[in-house]
Amino acid sequence: LHDLNCLTIEELEKHAATLMDKQTRDYYNEGADSGSTLRENITAFTKYRIRPRVLRDVSRINTSISLFGTTSSLPLGVAPTAMQRLAHTDGELATARACAKYGLPMGLSSFATSTLEDVAEAVTSATKQEGGSGERIPQVLQLYLFEEREHSRKLIQRAKKAGYKAVFLTVDTPMLGRRNLEIRNQFKLPAHFEIPNFKAQGDENGGDAEAEQEAGAEVNNRRREQIKGKERRKSEAGFTRKDGGRSPPKGPITFHSHAANPTLSWERDITWLKKECGSDMQVWIKGVATAEDAQLAIEYGVDGIVVSNHGGRQLNGALATLDALPEVVAAVQKRIPVHVDGGVRHGTDIFKALALGADFVWIGRPVLWGLAYGGQQGVELALRLFSDEFRLAMGLAGVTKVEDINKSYLVKIDKSGF
Ligand code: FNR
Repeated sequence: LHDLNCLTIEELEKHAATLMDKQTRDYYNEGADSGSTLRENITAFTKYRIRPRVLRDVSRINTSISLFGTTSSLPLGVAPTAMQRLAHTDGELATARACAKYGLPMGLSSFATSTLEDVAEAVTSATKQEGGSGERIPQVLQLYLFEEREHSRKLIQRAKKAGYKAVFLTVDTPMLGRRNLEIRNQFKLPAHFEIPNFKAQGDENGGDAEAEQEAGAEVNNRRREQIKGKERRKSEAGFTRKDGGRSPPKGPITFHSHAANPTLSWERDITWLKKECGSDMQVWIKGVATAEDAQLAIEYGVDGIVVSNHGGRQLNGALATLDALPEVVAAVQKRIPVHVDGGVRHGTDIFKALALGADFVWIGRPVLWGLAYGGQQGVELALRLFSDEFRLAMGLAGVTKVEDINKSYLVKIDKSGF
């Protein structure tokens, strides 16, 4: 059952890097600015060591937990990442099928390259094929709340109808972080792809209008532009809203024009979103990194929090998510669930995050690497590695149930190694 070429997520990353074009590889892998927060998300895990307990009969290990009223086979889900068809032609549908096969929840980006209905359908049919308990995995729609409410309202209604269990409002993007490779590469969604969620609801365009105009000559144009200073400046301006975000964006909905919303605020937006989702879908916020905001989240009645810094793609210099987790956990005091994402690359990382008080962990890039490596099978490979590693970590640490993982299993070491 092993893929001998790929026994770790690190190896998966290396293979994937050779299989993606430069534009995609850079877009998926980079962090904001110098990338230090992205790196620290990963290295934060190395500051903790596991204190294993022995002689505990670990012949029966249960890795499953309950989430959104269903069972997840691991305390692990696939975080929403935009534009998955850049990695593989089946894109989000492949991810959905792999998640259904492994009984793990999937987050879908608003800027997915498949509609939310098609992804729901892929989950339903994959679940039928799998047989088993027949329980459909929980699906979550990630939202960028738009200033023109109508676009968001339609998306929310469609998600309800398609059976999504929750929305994750991304709150760490009032402005888009500065990703230098994205700027240098003039990153755009290639002309043959689109962002169909918006087209499906009659909103203008939904793809990348500029990219569509460029069609076949796109790559050469980009190359030429790259070496022309004037053109470069023009394109860079396209990555930030022209008036700095003082008025709502006009024209087609694209990632660069619409994802960031500088007007987002607790009172107006969380209240609106809760009302809009009603009792059909839970409202979570993704991108909380402090005790103060965790406290506000509870006051505004959100159903759960994802401690996240967007995989180091937004505010570089921000705390690694694993380092932000303890203060959030302490502030929340188990009143609502606390999830975390960022830098999780091994089953022991899941174990450590849970020991620090997270209820659940999400992974972003490893799934994109899986997609690039082998579509659905590649994602399955990534999920299998995490699953095997996590089960093994539990067994070797002397734990048989996920809820038994706690702080007593960890020790933090300082820089000198003690
Ligand atoms: C993301 N992430 C993200 N988050 C979100 O809320 N909406 C989105 O559309 C995207 N898109 C996206 C694209 C790419 C290429 C990446 C790498 C990430 C962030 C994602 O949900 C998650 O927070 C991080 O990916 C977690 O960090 P790791 O696991 O990638 O280290």
